[in-house]
Amino acid sequence: MATVSTGTFDSELKARHRAMWASGDYPSMVETFLTPLGPELVRACEIRAGQRVLDVAAGTGNASIPAARQGADVTASDLTPELLEAGRGRAQETGVELDWVASDAERLPFEDASFDVVMSAIGVMFAPHHQAAADELVRTCRPGGTIGLLSWTPEGMLGALFRTMGPFAPPPPPGAQSPPLWGSEAHVRELLGARVELHTVRRQVLDVTAFEHARDYGAFFRARYGPTIAAQANARKDGREEELVAALDAFCDEWDRGAPGRARFEMEYLIAVGTRA
Ligand SMILES: C[S@@+](CC[C@H](N)C(=O)[O-])C[C@H]1O[C@@H](n2cnc3c(N)ncnc32)[C@H](O)[C@@H]1O
Repeated sequence: MATVSTGTFDSELKARHRAMWASGDYPSMVETFLTPLGPELVRACEIRAGQRVLDVAAGTGNASIPAARQGADVTASDLTPELLEAGRGRAQETGVELDWVASDAERLPFEDASFDVVMSAIGVMFAPHHQAAADELVRTCRPGGTIGLLSWTPEGMLGALFRTMGPFAPPPPPGAQSPPLWGSEAHVRELLGARVELHTVRRQVLDVTAFEHARDYGAFFRARYGPTIAAQANARKDGREEELVAALDAFCDEWDRGAPGRARFEMEYLIAVGTRA
């Protein structure tokens, strides 16, 4: 079992991650093209009224709010209080009540076995120490409960975006693993082991048609997506900003499946749902 790095180093790392996710405008990314993912995970987990549900790395509640609308008793947890605050506003508009708890997925402040469903939509994959985060998902879910994950795949578009940004980004901290690995079935099976019997594992595609021109997608990420903003700031420091912009433009051209003036991207993700032993 991997150990979580503790102490000052870990709190500085998490503070950097928190600031990164609070930068840009992640809530507008959800509204522009990510909204379908939350309800998709809620359906895959078959969330019902009365269940105690924990959404890990919930952001603005893209999965938590649809779960609460099903009548579940939902706790939305995330490292970034700014995103939880935006989620609270969204929930109020929708007329549902949830608990919003700022916490690190690698050290969740919840009792063992205290939830019927523990889920994460493109969320827990961004905690740097995968085994520590997986152990927390398992610990907080009751035996017989459901663990559901929706993660970008390494072979899909987000995996390729992280490979494109990698050479420009600040070096990853020691022991950190790459987020899209959570979209690999073998990796998820290794992390969860015999503690979770996966009954649903499938790849799906999010069709993105929100952008007129392919390169608008890259510009949108440079302005609003924390990891891209961090890579761009680091590239600027190294005098390589233009090189990054060119690499992102080429990436967008390569992944565009649309027609001139109507860009279309297929973003692949893995859904993995299982029962806690
Ligand atoms: C791509 S967003 C996904 C948010 C949300 N689940 C959704 O579907 O829109 C990734 C989220 O992971 C959160 N995150 C990153 N590292 C984390 C950590 N160590 N613990 C908890 N949340 C974390 C970020 O704050 C951000 O909200």
